[in-house]
Amino acid sequence: MTSGYTNNPKLLLDLLQETRMVKGALVEAGVWEADKYLHFLTIAEQFDKKCYAIDSFKGLSKPGKYDNEKIYPTGRFNVGGADWLRAITMHRKHARICEGFITAKFLKATRIRKISFIHVDLDIYTPTKIVFEWAWPRLTFDGIMVCHDYKKGNMKNCSRAVEEWMQKHGVKEEGVKNTWIWFKKGL
Ligand SMILES: C[S@@+](CC[C@H](N)C(=O)[O-])C[C@H]1O[C@@H](n2cnc3c(N)ncnc32)[C@H](O)[C@@H]1O
Repeated sequence: MTSGYTNNPKLLLDLLQETRMVKGALVEAGVWEADKYLHFLTIAEQFDKKCYAIDSFKGLSKPGKYDNEKIYPTGRFNVGGADWLRAITMHRKHARICEGFITAKFLKATRIRKISFIHVDLDIYTPTKIVFEWAWPRLTFDGIMVCHDYKKGNMKNCSRAVEEWMQKHGVKEEGVKNTWIWFKKGL
């Protein structure tokens, strides 16, 4: 969810600025109405980097056993496909729209090889887990991976995916603020 952030993009924009000199694309996984994505795209143009929007554009996939399905029912955030986003970004050469439900195969097909900054905002467990496993090896040195809606110690929804991923890979967060957690790629 996005409440509280929409009027205060400073944290994400500050983190993005930190990655200015880092090689690789900007990515948002979980785009909804592209509020943040369009901010990211403007910055990507300044940095001369590609900016990927990854989403089903048909809303949340089916919640699983670790998700609170009352808060996150199937199809929440459905914006009826990505044609409207393609239309408003068609003249912006740094924009890339990847429309589909997230699986490891789908992400591989995006052919994104290097990421300097990724904002993960998928709410639920499974796609968050898949994106973390895919994005981390592609994040370049000093790149930043941020996840929204993280609540420390919460073993539900996207927070569970983040907790499990940290434990599995032995990675410690660089920072936590409000409902964001972020990781910086070291050597
Ligand atoms: C909270 S919204 C994103 C909000 C957006 N980042 C913002 O700040 O305005 C979550 C998004 O995740 C997408 N999503 C959730 N599960 C998905 C999945 N399995 N595959 C693709 N997209 C998914 C939904 O379609 C929805 O647009």
